[in-house]
Amino acid sequence: MTAHLQLSDVSVSFNGFVAVNALNLAVGKGELRCLIGPNGAGKTTALDLICGKIKPTAGSITLRNTELTALEEHQIARAGVGRKFQVPSVFKELTVRENLQVAYSKRTGVFANVMRSCRGEETDGLDMLAQLVGLENALDKPAAYLSHGQTQWLEIGMLVAQDTELILMDEPTAGMTAQETLKTADLFNRLKGKHTLLVVEHDMGFVKAIGDVISVMHQGRLLAEGTAAEVERNEEVRRAYLGSGGITGA
Ligand SMILES: Nc1ncnc2c1ncn2[C@@H]1O[C@H](COP(=O)(O)OP(=O)(O)OP(=O)(O)O)[C@@H](O)[C@H]1O
Ligand SMILES: [Mg+2]
Repeated sequence: MTAHLQLSDVSVSFNGFVAVNALNLAVGKGELRCLIGPNGAGKTTALDLICGKIKPTAGSITLRNTELTALEEHQIARAGVGRKFQVPSVFKELTVRENLQVAYSKRTGVFANVMRSCRGEETDGLDMLAQLVGLENALDKPAAYLSHGQTQWLEIGMLVAQDTELILMDEPTAGMTAQETLKTADLFNRLKGKHTLLVVEHDMGFVKAIGDVISVMHQGRLLAEGTAAEVERNEEVRRAYLGSGGITGA
């Protein structure tokens, strides 16, 4: 199988400190991949490299067969990579509906056509999307009045509306209630297949609820890969997490 997203021997240093060290990572199309690892492992830096916020000092990053390292950040976004940030980039003064409309207006290509063909008598694309992210009853609410969880879901909905092929998320459940976390796991499970997702997450309960394959990073490298059970009983992974409260408590 050719990977949808492929990182090959990717490295980056900050003032001589190697944060990502010859990292290899392959994610298949439509896959929902979790990326875990102890603090400072290089997870956020890996996402920064993929979306072009920082440039690698060595290695290659491809989406389909497009070399992303040769592109500027905005070109990488146009190539289909979207990042969900810790502080959501929604327009607070606009309603949920208006935010989704803004996102739709940025979309290109296939998804636009799919949405048009779905635009039937009963439901239009925007309502379907609002339903997907659980905001169907909040469409006319200004984003400023959404709960923390709802704001995260709106931002995810905006990435979907923009026809984002690869969605990158850094600790999306941080600050969410247990119930919001469950709903988010459910949402991710519905997004996979149509989108490729790479999710950095500390909450192992969440990881188990969503992750098919989990990649573990340590000291800038890929340490292990497998199911939650495989990763949890891996001796090297256990050792990497020593001193940080263990893998489940991380
Ligand atoms: N801009 C930077 N300048 C210098 N050092 C940096 C920079 N960005 C990251 N680092 C260092 O690189 C290492 C990896 O950081 P990164 O944020 O990618 O880790 P992480 O796996 O996301 O950790 P956490 O789980 O705590 O979020 C850390 O030691 C960090 O201090
Ligand atoms: Mg991080």
